[in-house]
Amino acid sequence: MSAGWWKKAVFYEIYVRSFADSNGDGIGDLDGITAHLDYLNDGTPESLGVDALWLSPINPSPLRDFGYDVSDYCGIHPELGDFASFDRLLAEAHRRNIRVVLDLVPNHTSDQHPWFLESRSSRRNHRRDWYIWADGEFGHPPNNWLSTFGGSAWQYDEPTRAFYLHSFLPEQPDLNYRNPEVVAAMHDVLRFWLLRGVDGFRVDVISYLMKDAALRDNPPRDPANPGAGLVPAFSQDLPEVHEVVRGLRRVLDDFVDRMMVGEVWPRDQRSLADYLRPNECHLAFNFRFLMCRYDAASFRAAIEETETLLDDGAWPTYTLSNHDFARHISRYAEGAATEARARMLAVLMTTVRGTPFLYYGEEIGMHNVEIPSGRRRDPAGRDSCRTPMQWSEARSGGFTTAAATPWLPLGDCAAANVERERHDPHSMLSLYRRLIRLRRDNPALLEGTLRVGADAPADCLVLIRESASHRMAVALNFAGERRRITAIGPGVIALSSDPDRNIGAIGETLELSANEGVVLKLV
Ligand code: NOJ
Repeated sequence: MSAGWWKKAVFYEIYVRSFADSNGDGIGDLDGITAHLDYLNDGTPESLGVDALWLSPINPSPLRDFGYDVSDYCGIHPELGDFASFDRLLAEAHRRNIRVVLDLVPNHTSDQHPWFLESRSSRRNHRRDWYIWADGEFGHPPNNWLSTFGGSAWQYDEPTRAFYLHSFLPEQPDLNYRNPEVVAAMHDVLRFWLLRGVDGFRVDVISYLMKDAALRDNPPRDPANPGAGLVPAFSQDLPEVHEVVRGLRRVLDDFVDRMMVGEVWPRDQRSLADYLRPNECHLAFNFRFLMCRYDAASFRAAIEETETLLDDGAWPTYTLSNHDFARHISRYAEGAATEARARMLAVLMTTVRGTPFLYYGEEIGMHNVEIPSGRRRDPAGRDSCRTPMQWSEARSGGFTTAAATPWLPLGDCAAANVERERHDPHSMLSLYRRLIRLRRDNPALLEGTLRVGADAPADCLVLIRESASHRMAVALNFAGERRRITAIGPGVIALSSDPDRNIGAIGETLELSANEGVVLKLV
């Protein structure tokens, strides 16, 4: 897998602090990941089989936003490891043909970053203009822009009696990409890691990188209804941002086979494709599935919209869970049907046209975890989907030593853990392994065309995937009872999410059990 490897890869997001702790301090680290690379892909069907890892931020940080507040772009947070452990992880991953993509956070730094300390020290400091400062009037913020985490996006700073912009926490001041020195400094950061051998970057809120030069007020979403909020027309997704994106791409293009996946929050989903023009991002997150209800029409609309909006050159991606949202197994929980629903969605994720981004733990059916108030860490309330990986039923879940207290509480390790699922052919883990292999070995699933089947019952979804040599059908039943799909076969069932299904040939008709997903090889 080389040219355009990101189109064929299955990505796996690792929230580094929560994956595996190698030194007994209760915090996941780089050596912990290295120790589990064989679990991720050892080249045999015994491993999960993912092709690329996206690591949550590893740079030094005061951890106000757990690494999304960087205080040194060219360092490694001591809780996570050092350069020796990083180089080891990279070498061991590459030895197994696993690519490693780092989280790059260019929109803002920590307020403790030396650049910001200088910038805030004096209006005449040579780095003053590296951030976005404005005076405001009569003690009021310069405009009505809002922080994504709530409240004004402006923080008054006493030493120089001015406001600075923060699209997230006040401890995360936004950099000013209208200043060419900032652009050059960030390019140097990319080169630093590319020279070290990383395969690319997940670029945090790439669509936020340019702000209106005149700092105009954002317009109301609905002038008749002030409660409806603002359209971030002047603070996000500006036309000028694309020049910044192209600049990052030029740096990547000086190296072989490197990529970036942009975290794009377009004001209108239609502009997602703009970030995927040939000289911009290789991939961009498509968050449509995160917004779907558990029903066939909702997922069908998300897929059809994505297929329509992305033109030939732009390659889709799909995400069901990540470190910012409730895990999908919990979002779609429905009593005894919960596991079956998640199993069916695993079929969808790995067979839809596009690159899947899996989130650590989804492959074993990890749930969101209720966090007691005394143990909450994230100011934006996202701890529940970031709890330690459940490796075993041991006291520490196999995540850390028995004596250590994990940095966030563990979920129900008896209900879902790697150790047990590894040996159970009917487990969620075994299903993911089989799906990832099936996808990898099947040109139709990997790069074939996609058509949504027309004749399925309203609560089912059928995807037809075709390449020159293969024709596959994917049949998904969102109903809590059996459904019959007519005129889909003949074919041979390659895989089902239902452990009780008899695998074999079918005629014209396919009977699906409640919440079942089936992959069919058409003959
Ligand atoms: C998006 C990241 O996914 C989120 O975790 C973070 O809080 C914000 N960007 C700010 O960096």
